[in-house]
Amino acid sequence: MSRLVIVSNRVALPQESRAGGLAVALNAALREGGGLWFGWSGRRMREASGTLHEVRDGDLRFVTMDLSNEDHDAYYSNFANRSLWPMLHFRPDLVDYTRETHAGYQRVNALFAERLAPLLREDDTLWVHDYHLIPLGRYLRERGIGCRMGFFLHVPLPSSDLVSALPGHRELFGALGAYDLVGFQTRRDVERFRDYVRLFGEGHALEGDWLANSDGRRFRARHFPISIDTAGIAAQSAAGVRRTSVRRLRASLGDRALAISVDRLDYSKGLPDRFRAVSRLLERHPQHRGRLTCLQIAPASRSDVPEYQTLRRELAELTGHINGRHAEPDWTPLRYVNRNFSHDVLTGYYRIARLGLVTPLRDGMNLVAKEFVAAQDPQDPGVLVLSRFAGAANELGGALIVNPYDLDGVADAIDTGLGMPQAERIQRWRAMMDTLEHHDITRWRRSFLDALAATDG
Ligand code: G6P
Repeated sequence: MSRLVIVSNRVALPQESRAGGLAVALNAALREGGGLWFGWSGRRMREASGTLHEVRDGDLRFVTMDLSNEDHDAYYSNFANRSLWPMLHFRPDLVDYTRETHAGYQRVNALFAERLAPLLREDDTLWVHDYHLIPLGRYLRERGIGCRMGFFLHVPLPSSDLVSALPGHRELFGALGAYDLVGFQTRRDVERFRDYVRLFGEGHALEGDWLANSDGRRFRARHFPISIDTAGIAAQSAAGVRRTSVRRLRASLGDRALAISVDRLDYSKGLPDRFRAVSRLLERHPQHRGRLTCLQIAPASRSDVPEYQTLRRELAELTGHINGRHAEPDWTPLRYVNRNFSHDVLTGYYRIARLGLVTPLRDGMNLVAKEFVAAQDPQDPGVLVLSRFAGAANELGGALIVNPYDLDGVADAIDTGLGMPQAERIQRWRAMMDTLEHHDITRWRRSFLDALAATDG
């Protein structure tokens, strides 16, 4: 069996207790193939980029690379998160592009390739993750690396009109043709990629899943919706409700219903619109006044990026405004918390919530939606209100699907969810849970790796 090499910007080292679902899944994949995980060390240095660190865990190797302050700024804080991220999330208005930061992104990708290449063997299988590392495969090919290579984009791909507005898009997206398999979250993302290649690309879209790059080399693009450890989360949440912090949350609610949202503090998540929808609910359906608590957990993210700082200020003001307007001395509608919680506490919170409110303006998949479902009590499940613009909406038809820009519609869906009879809640939940039990995280990584193994290499 070929050794698996995973490359991603962030690496979950074995001693890190807070590894998320993806880290756990990739670790399991590495364990099956005795592999290597390569990525950024999380350190920004005054000195030049490129120093490597290695941690071993049995047969597994974790090799990480330091970046200089300057490289990290250009590659991560600017090009990846101020040019690519907003464009990929359908927000061209927020794109801040400079040739200099694009060059920095390319430079860091070339350096990843330079440092990784000597660690690779001919029969390795390489799996590169996400928008930080799109050109990595091309730089590795330029160094003569011939092994099988796959790439998975965790975020959405917008229409070719948007993609082609990004300066340098041909060089950047043309580089995807260096891989043997390019994975996307949804069928629509694949269609948009094929459209882009047809209209603007260096290569061609061929029959079926196939495409050809500018050299005429064939590669495939398919969708692989990412998922969660469904059984693990169900078990964890059942145990989680006994934890002190979950009991305390429950006690603090009294007999009020809880609606929960958990998102990185990111403009793609639609938090201001969601808060306004809650305010609208209290106007349109005043019977929920004093009866509903909305808990928004929103750990700060990418805090050195100006657009995220602006959003944080906006949300602080909006929360104050909405609470000031609707609150009573013994009740506030919104509880807004800017810190992170361990996974087992979160799944306990999901289980005691009557409603999961997941309303991103754009999201590649959204695993909170899936985890919320997996964490419910089968006898008395809560209701999921889910944006149609999350990839997860394709699979979670049992949710109340909303357009997050339609505040009245979101307000009405919350009202419907809170009043939904138990039999309907169980029926909707069962349908979603069946999907998640079949399509879990293990199935996701196996189907990607099987498809990659089946390419010509
Ligand atoms: C999204 C991206 C991931 C990224 C994560 C956290 O889910 O698809 O690649 O790791 O956000 O963002 P951060 O910038 O903190 O890595």
